[in-house]
Amino acid sequence: MGADTTGTRDRHRRPADAGMANRAGASTITIEKTIAEIVRARPARSRVFEELGIDYCCGGKRSLAEACRARGLAPAAVLARLSAADAARDELAPDPVAMTLPELCDHIRDAHHGYLRDEFPRLDFMTRKVAATHGDREPRLLEVRRVFEALYAMIASHTREEDERIFPAIRALGSGGGDRAAARALAVTLAKMESEHDAASAALERLETLTDHHTPPDWACNTFRALYDGLARLQKNMRLHTHKENNVLFPRVLSMGGAA
Ligand SMILES: [Fe+2]
Ligand SMILES: [Fe+2]
Repeated sequence: MGADTTGTRDRHRRPADAGMANRAGASTITIEKTIAEIVRARPARSRVFEELGIDYCCGGKRSLAEACRARGLAPAAVLARLSAADAARDELAPDPVAMTLPELCDHIRDAHHGYLRDEFPRLDFMTRKVAATHGDREPRLLEVRRVFEALYAMIASHTREEDERIFPAIRALGSGGGDRAAARALAVTLAKMESEHDAASAALERLETLTDHHTPPDWACNTFRALYDGLARLQKNMRLHTHKENNVLFPRVLSMGGAA
């Protein structure tokens, strides 16, 4: 990521995003705030939501109060955990809100699309092998293989579209002065990307259920265990990835077109 010498960061940031960069304001969490707002202000808070099973990417538009109600959690206890996470926050966590549009596209390409490109072939091999070897004893592995195969195909074409078509268009917006018509033209494509994020999230939740929350049985071999560990990491990485696109990148592009 290069230094921002163009001044585009301030020019293109949504007013709400600019407010999030104010660290004093960002530290205040209320139960009326949405999950997306809370994580956008400090990405390290995503760990608390991961631990509590609260979806902060596709389900990020819900308020903290609604999310607590849906999970049967006491809001005061959740607020306390978020405050504790703030106190020990990871300064190394990259803050997507502080990035320019080109920087954010580069970051997502390298940290998330690169991860998927490396990880999917490995998981593809393991889902095939474990289903073939242990499918008789644990028939859910056959469905794990089917769900994974469909997810792999969808995500491969999704990230290719982002890398080859969408991100170059967003980078041009971020360095070309902000053409409103060009930003508006992206709206339909971004809505399609969001609906594919929903489908990926549903597939990963299905895998979580089929694998008993990624818990291998006592008799599982090492490949079996490595597969479940890999699927858990995949779900975590995808949640962070989707949060950065749905809740930070796409809203900034839409706001430039006057659509958000
Ligand atoms: Fe992506
Ligand atoms: Fe995406």
